Amino acid sequence: MQSVTLKPMKTIKLKDKTFRINIPSDEILSQVKRVAQEIDKDYENRRPLFVVVLNGAFMFASDLMKQVNTECEISFVKLSSYQGTQSTETVKEIIGLNQSIDGRDIIIVEDIVDTGITMENLLNDLHKMSPKSISIATLLYKPESFQKDFDIQYVGFSIPNDFIVGYGLDYDELGRNLSDIYIITN
Ligand code: IMP
Ligand code: MG
Repeated sequence: MQSVTLKPMKTIKLKDKTFRINIPSDEILSQVKRVAQEIDKDYENRRPLFVVVLNGAFMFASDLMKQVNTECEISFVKLSSYQGTQSTETVKEIIGLNQSIDGRDIIIVEDIVDTGITMENLLNDLHKMSPKSISIATLLYKPESFQKDFDIQYVGFSIPNDFIVGYGLDYDELGRNLSDIYIITN
């Protein structure tokens, strides 16, 4: 008689929360490759400058750059949060962009666009530096929680409004090293 073995569901624990595998590494890499091909098609002979938002986008940016064949450059920024004039308002300022983007074709590389607040801040700040164009490449996008109206040109995966970790994304700074993406279970 043939026996059927069910694969155990891979779960991990980070601090007080449990996560189960959601997007395996091979699926991530195939979508990253597809995004790179779209960028290659759109940016031939334009020498785009990838502006990578640290920390979350480091792994996506690394895999993406390896698949992009068109001539390009890369730069890294961080968004430092500080409390704005209203107690509820968090203003994010770009740090680390120490080169001119005047007249350049910019591709922002992000791990995830959730409400879109972070990205909108970044877009506004970068627009002031007179680039020729700005587009967005995000690995993940949560359409149900998106509150803004800017366009996102390159999306790896549209996902439901659940908390995820891995492949650069963290839960309280943990889980960034995981090569698969995990979803919260509790
Ligand atoms: P937004 O400003 O709401 O679009 O949120 C953007 C930031 O929130 C991202 O850059 C992440 O750092 C964080 N974030 C949003 N959703 C998740 C998630 O599911 N897991 C981990 N971080 C997340
Ligand atoms: Mg981020």
